[in-house]
Amino acid sequence: MAIQAPATRPANPRFSSGPCAKIPTFSLDLLSDAPLGRSHRAAVGKAKLLAAIETTRDILGIPADYKIGIVPGSDTGAVEMAMWSLLGARKATMVAWESFGAGWVTDVVKQLKIDADVMTAEYGDIVDFDKVDFNTDVVFTWNGTTSGARVPNGDKIPAAREGLTICDATSAAFAMDLPWDKLDVTTFSWQKVLGGEAAHGIIVLSPRAVERLESYTPAWPMPKIFRMTKGGKLIDGIFKGETINTPSMLAVEDYLVALDWAKSVGGLEGLIARATANAKVIWDFCDAKPWIANLANDPATASNTSVCLKFTDDRIQDGAAFAKAVAKRLEVEGVALDIGAYRDAPAGLRIWCGGTVETADVAALMPWLEYAFEAEIAAQ
Ligand SMILES: Cc1ncc(COP(=O)(O)O)c(C=O)c1O
Repeated sequence: MAIQAPATRPANPRFSSGPCAKIPTFSLDLLSDAPLGRSHRAAVGKAKLLAAIETTRDILGIPADYKIGIVPGSDTGAVEMAMWSLLGARKATMVAWESFGAGWVTDVVKQLKIDADVMTAEYGDIVDFDKVDFNTDVVFTWNGTTSGARVPNGDKIPAAREGLTICDATSAAFAMDLPWDKLDVTTFSWQKVLGGEAAHGIIVLSPRAVERLESYTPAWPMPKIFRMTKGGKLIDGIFKGETINTPSMLAVEDYLVALDWAKSVGGLEGLIARATANAKVIWDFCDAKPWIANLANDPATASNTSVCLKFTDDRIQDGAAFAKAVAKRLEVEGVALDIGAYRDAPAGLRIWCGGTVETADVAALMPWLEYAFEAEIAAQ
């Protein structure tokens, strides 16, 4: 029997896990208020940067006494800045269950050469947070973008802890509840959940993180691009929009537009609901089909942004080639772009479900997934 292609296509085939789909209302015209060709230190530029910081605070519910900075180098820049500036004062615990977390382990153990316990879990699981010593400085990723497994909540992080928690939340911020009282440093990039432009990152510092910055000087030299203190004092301007170096005002405008859109869909609550509704379409699909499953083993840790899937059918001969062929077929059909699993992750698919993706598009993709699966089984 010939395999029938579904009749309906997703209106937007963009399911990339970063840069992620832009807001559904996006058009370049929305950026016309960007102060292009002007100094970012002019009043207009500074006002835009401050608005980006304070609207971020407002939407994410970040406490008034936390510092928020726009930094270079996207999420990577923000995480590196935090680790290079804060670690080394006490023992560290590096927690990882997928590729990005593993990258932070490498940097701390091999580059900074810090005394650290390393706790890892396989793709699909997360580390047992009951076993983490929060009297050490703990570095972890809230949502493992390449495995689709996330921390379910902050309950395992004690309110009273001696160490700092440094959390890479780039595929979680604006899609999951982040417990600010449990997080001393939180980082994310604009290119992720709100579908912003790349290159800029955000770092959020708790008062305890600021206290560490002001009381501890690492033994290694600090590049200007990572420096958050001067003469033992926090450079406060960074957290008011006086960026360390020159930002793209076009990217800033784009972020402001995305934040406005976020407010229009109900702020954080609305964004979480959108992402979860998207992910649920895929979770339900997996429950109904015996040949595909969520890579996250425990539904409590299943990501509502980077949903990672594995094929479980015995007829599949070469898992990696099969998953690639399915992704390719969907791309060629124009129904799903960039949904192959991350290069270091187990073979499979990864479908972005953050709030900028429309639920109708995820729903329209599911029959195509089945179509591509059946077509590739037949083609083996
Ligand atoms: C968990 C995590 N950390 C870090 C990064 C790197 O982000 P960026 O390229 O914005 O620096 C990514 C990108 O996908 C990520 O998912």
